[in-house]
Amino acid sequence: MKSSGVASIAAAALSGALFAMSVTADLPPIVIKGSHFFFENGTEFFIRGVAYQQDVNSNGSTSTTGSFTDPLADSAGCSRDIPLLKELGTNTIRVYAINASLDHSACMQMLQDAGIYLIQDLSNPSSSINRNDPTWTTELFADYAAVVDAMANYTNVLGFFAGNEVSNDVSNTNASAFVKAAVRDMKSYIKTKGYRTIGVGYATNDNADIRIDLAHYFNCGDAADAIDFWGYNIYSWCGDSSYTVSGYDQRTAEFANYSVPAFFAEYGCNTVQPRQFTEVQAIYGKNMTGVWSGGIVYMYFQETNDFGLVSVSGDTVTKLADFTALSKQLALATPSSTNSANYVVTNTVAQACPATGTDWAAASALPPIANADVCTCMVTSLSCVAETGLSDNTTASLFSTVCGLDKTACAGINTNGTTGVYGAYSMCNSYQKLSFSLDQYYKNQNKASTACNFNGQAKTQSGSTSSSCSSLLNQAGSAGTGTVTTAPTGTGASSSSGTSTKKSAAGAVIIPRLDMGLLQLGAYLFAAGIVGGGMILL
Ligand SMILES: *[C@@H]1O[C@H](CO)[C@@H](O)[C@H](O)[C@H]1NC(C)=O
Ligand SMILES: *[C@@H]1O[C@H](CO)[C@@H](O)[C@H](O)[C@H]1NC(C)=O
Ligand SMILES: *[C@@H]1O[C@H](CO)[C@@H](O)[C@H](O)[C@H]1NC(C)=O
Ligand SMILES: *[C@@H]1O[C@H](CO)[C@@H](O)[C@H](O)[C@H]1NC(C)=O
Ligand SMILES: *[C@@H]1O[C@H](CO)[C@@H](O)[C@H](O)[C@H]1NC(C)=O
Ligand SMILES: *[C@@H]1O[C@H](CO)[C@@H](O)[C@H](O)[C@H]1NC(C)=O
Ligand SMILES: *[C@@H]1O[C@H](CO)[C@@H](O)[C@H](O)[C@H]1NC(C)=O
Ligand SMILES: *[C@@H]1O[C@H](CO)[C@@H](O)[C@H](O)[C@H]1NC(C)=O
Ligand SMILES: *[C@@H]1O[C@H](CO)[C@@H](O)[C@H](O)[C@H]1NC(C)=O
Repeated sequence: MKSSGVASIAAAALSGALFAMSVTADLPPIVIKGSHFFFENGTEFFIRGVAYQQDVNSNGSTSTTGSFTDPLADSAGCSRDIPLLKELGTNTIRVYAINASLDHSACMQMLQDAGIYLIQDLSNPSSSINRNDPTWTTELFADYAAVVDAMANYTNVLGFFAGNEVSNDVSNTNASAFVKAAVRDMKSYIKTKGYRTIGVGYATNDNADIRIDLAHYFNCGDAADAIDFWGYNIYSWCGDSSYTVSGYDQRTAEFANYSVPAFFAEYGCNTVQPRQFTEVQAIYGKNMTGVWSGGIVYMYFQETNDFGLVSVSGDTVTKLADFTALSKQLALATPSSTNSANYVVTNTVAQACPATGTDWAAASALPPIANADVCTCMVTSLSCVAETGLSDNTTASLFSTVCGLDKTACAGINTNGTTGVYGAYSMCNSYQKLSFSLDQYYKNQNKASTACNFNGQAKTQSGSTSSSCSSLLNQAGSAGTGTVTTAPTGTGASSSSGTSTKKSAAGAVIIPRLDMGLLQLGAYLFAAGIVGGGMILL
């Protein structure tokens, strides 16, 4: 279906498929060389993109209920909209959240047939890194990996975003350490699974205080940990602005040395209506194409935020003035391109990691690889574990008690994105983390018979370590203060009992759910390793 048109047809014939497969060949994958995108044949690829999802705000936030509509599982919607996207001159769509368990094949085939690539965000409204309470966990790993699994086979997947506007001002920059860990782990996962090389990037808002540090942070250090491309959500060209008034000139200078492709992951300021999209000539013109690889207009659907190109009602689509204006501008945009073979990569040096200080709080040392095997091995090895099925409140209370009694018992589960000190088990689920701290306490009490009880909420077990676990546990160290460098072999997050750390909102997100009680909030903070001492909560 996805590797080549010929193979698809053969496979369909062999399996006696009941419906006719498209005879159109799948699109050639887009490859990255230096700071540009190319077709495999060497022609440079500029993104002419449109954001395609209902109910997603331009800043990435969405409903607080955690629900969303997966546009790529809606084949009726795709057949309604893809012809219009094609008419517009679109070659890429950005989708903010999909449900990995649904069938995307019909929409993906229609996109292939229309010559349209996809940039897919990995988070969704119920599974993302929370900017106010950042964690990178085995549960998030499994959810993000499921999106990679659902999409990796389609040759028209241009790349993934591992986060959208997560750190969005100076108060929450430490969250970037966790997002960069997500980038690192998803890049590694794509390799482990033997998928084609697909880039993993990050999409940022445009905050003057942090924009440079952010761009440098995600590009700095070991290339295996760094983004493959940078997406800028930028709304600084409003009405018939200009290259200089919009600040595009400065942004372009800032990215002149960037070692991976950069593009506008959202653009299209709407403070002057109707939009004329005069920025299109700048984005695809000589001033910018040496540095930027095009952009993605926000957005297809007209909603209350008034950014739509079309309005949709059931099966009916109505083109708005913005559609016509954008279509005209894109038709006039004829970027002069570099051919891959003639392109000598000059931006070979990554940016330096920003120092932590008043404006930047994310350490260059990243949180642990979210390897679920490490967590299951750890629990099996313990002599004292939590009872299963404890409520969130009881779990919070136990964290509070044990970490309060013995701070060192919790070193293996705490995280600090600013110091870059992370417990080796800080990515595990709440049950696993609680069990680790109870076991540490028990051991620190020389396994006194009373030290593994906690009102019947803890129990002893005969811990064991299989040979496949011993290397992981040795790396983690007996107090959980080591660093495990082994990547997981599968997605295998074990969602054992314990506090849910689900978040709300695409890519970024707000506070724990409003329906969360105080104790649940305590458990939440504890599970996230945010609260260390324990006496604060209860
Ligand atoms: C390379 O492939 C793209 C996409 O199929 C096509 O648009 C372009 O014309 C090709 N370039 C050359 C030089 O054949
Ligand atoms: C995101 O956009 C929504 C709707 O436009 C707005 O209510 C919210 O305050 C914005 N959030 C941030 C963090 O900018
Ligand atoms: C994904 O779809 C399945 C099947 O319809 C549904 O049970 C599940 O709740 C959906 N997940 C999300 C996060 O919407
Ligand atoms: C992807 O393709 C491989 C090889 O053809 C196949 O084994 C695998 O099942 C496919 N995965 C999905 C999710 O379609
Ligand atoms: C780009 O690199 C050149 C040469 O190393 C240097 O002079 C210049 O300051 C750099 N510009 C940026 C924006 O980093
Ligand atoms: C390119 O930059 C020059 C110098 O700043 C400016 O005058 C011109 O308008 C820019 N071109 C476009 C298409 O924005
Ligand atoms: C991280 O460590 C710094 C320096 O020790 C400290 O000021 C800060 O409160 C810590 N943050 C958390 C979340 O523990
Ligand atoms: C990140 O910073 C915020 C704001 O200072 C703080 O509340 C939170 O505990 C920090 N989290 C981590 C994991 O460092
Ligand atoms: C958990 O604690 C909160 C805050 O004290 C309380 O409102 C809630 O009822 C408790 N939940 C249960 C199930 O005991």
